[in-house]
Amino acid sequence: MSETIDAFLKENRTFPPPTEFAKQAWVNNDDPYKRAEDNYEKFWEGFASELHWFKKWSKALEWKPPHAKWFVGGKLNISYNCLDRHLSAHKNKAALIWEGEPGETRTLTYYDLYREVNKFANVLKKFGVKRGDRVSIYLPMIPELPIAMLACTRIGATHSVVFSAFSAQALRDRNQDSQAKVLITADGYYRSGNVEKLKERADLALKESPSVKQVVIVKRMGNAVTMESGRDHWWHELMQEADDYCKPEEMDSEDPLYILYTSGSTGKPKGVLHTTGGYLTGVYATNKWVFDIKDNDTYWCTADIGWVTGHSYIVYGPLANGATSLMYEGSPDYPQKDRFWAIIEKHNVNIFYTAPTAIRTFMKWGAQWPEKRDMSSLRLLGSVGEPINPEAWIWYHETIGKGRCPVVDTWWQTETGSILITPLPGHTILKPGSATKPFPGIAAMVVDEHGKEVPPGTGGYLVITKPWPSMLRTIYGDPDRYVKQYWNKFGGKFYFTGDGAKRDKDGYFWLLGRIDDVINVSGHRISTMEVESALVEHDAVAEAAVVGKNHEIKGQAIVAFVTLGDGYKPSDQLKEGLREKVKEVIGPIAKPDAIIFSDDLPKTRSGKIMRRILQDLAEGRPVGDTTTLRDPGVVERIKQQL
Ligand code: WT7
Repeated sequence: MSETIDAFLKENRTFPPPTEFAKQAWVNNDDPYKRAEDNYEKFWEGFASELHWFKKWSKALEWKPPHAKWFVGGKLNISYNCLDRHLSAHKNKAALIWEGEPGETRTLTYYDLYREVNKFANVLKKFGVKRGDRVSIYLPMIPELPIAMLACTRIGATHSVVFSAFSAQALRDRNQDSQAKVLITADGYYRSGNVEKLKERADLALKESPSVKQVVIVKRMGNAVTMESGRDHWWHELMQEADDYCKPEEMDSEDPLYILYTSGSTGKPKGVLHTTGGYLTGVYATNKWVFDIKDNDTYWCTADIGWVTGHSYIVYGPLANGATSLMYEGSPDYPQKDRFWAIIEKHNVNIFYTAPTAIRTFMKWGAQWPEKRDMSSLRLLGSVGEPINPEAWIWYHETIGKGRCPVVDTWWQTETGSILITPLPGHTILKPGSATKPFPGIAAMVVDEHGKEVPPGTGGYLVITKPWPSMLRTIYGDPDRYVKQYWNKFGGKFYFTGDGAKRDKDGYFWLLGRIDDVINVSGHRISTMEVESALVEHDAVAEAAVVGKNHEIKGQAIVAFVTLGDGYKPSDQLKEGLREKVKEVIGPIAKPDAIIFSDDLPKTRSGKIMRRILQDLAEGRPVGDTTTLRDPGVVERIKQQL
């Protein structure tokens, strides 16, 4: 097997920052890159100094590979930095604008949020929650979710947010792993106009969560719930009695902040542990520079707070910046397919951050939906979660941004805590499909199997070669797994991201997807992402997922699962057209052996395509676990096409 990945896609379009945008941007020259290059510890100290510390750190970094400590000896409190710090200048500025699925709005000013957080911190204290204790939060996208998170940080408890669409079993496993003392949940929530009975799922999980002694329930829907006396309490009743000031705990910079479970491709979920000072510095800095956040902006990240994107870029990053962060409870197609655009119009959103899978869905729904709405308030667009294919990038730039807004394609992971590879919108010349360059202070490289840097244009493993403030510190309860998973591959020298990438001659990074998703066809290591990107360049294709299937001669053969855009019908002729398209864009080597049309693809609830399932289908194996799928029915529907 060759040691690198063959990278084929060529994308030559470039987009310099619009002059007006560059003029007003936080960064519009390469000074920060130079400063960071000179001394990256000092560079990060600059951002840390913009935050509030009860006691200043004595040393920026203590690096005993693979263990980093940042801002050693410093004392701070996250809720203080996200709330108290802004009360003088921004007391009555909107901190959170929340829109419920049925259309109601709740705006919490910094002062409102401050009061709610203080009160709920006192509720937690009353239940005996202390510094270092774990609290599970199983809430939908309602303001009580960030309130509960910030209340934990106020008293130094470690929160573990469990995505509200996860199953009872997932919640149980996480409660058990973290040994949470308290669970915060809700009676139910809206999803596409239906009531999801959350408390029922929580009750199932609680049967096998012996560490959880107290449960707090937010009344969101008013659906009937069972309350276990002595254990279950209503949020609103507790809040009525709670004092409205709680002194913030002075936390050590390296004290735990939160655990967030992320499913690895194999094995049980990993509890990624983030700590206090470094994490806040990382999300504060990147939210400010990557999204160019200014005092008057309304900023909207569409992720669910159950994912790291929501932790870092709905809650901690924006609030640390004193910004206005919008959160939306429901589905993008409720009551109609223009809901996101209606929200942008209604709230005058300036900065919009979403995922490629959402963008491709919007493309499929058609430009008539955004075109009905006035979105002239937008000035910057962002993308995260997977490689954005140039086709989708251009559509986003043209149809949503009207060619006016830079698009920041931000690469990062749950483990990295904050964005690591990204354009800075007032400075970077954009190339559609490239996450461009490491954020100042971040050192990334593309290497071969032996850890040797590969030449420009060649694909390899993406590694991070220096520690950064918001890096995960360990896997909760499994320190060996931390070392094995992220550091052993390259002898403890580099952080191994698990992603493939190539750099071009200008030093730009092009992400090639997870290394596990690379297919080996006759000795050529082909990134599934590149074949998918070629397929969606065809007018008829809305979305594509590509997997490898065992092949006697070639090693692996390429199988493509394709969803067509509205108005296109499957046919053999179209299959041939798609094969030709791949040949034209990549070369004959990458022509799919089989093409399967399907109305949808198996996706996780965060929108990632589960290629493992498609591979099972392609190879005719029984399909493994489908419980994490957004729509498990899709598997049966694809089977009928085989
Ligand atoms: C994986 C991390 C980080 C927040 C959301 C996902 C992929 C993420 C990009 C991007 C190409 C990307 C990578 C990464 N990914 N952003 N801009 N371009 N790939 O967090 O669930 O921890 O997933 O998502 O494969 O390793 P996560």
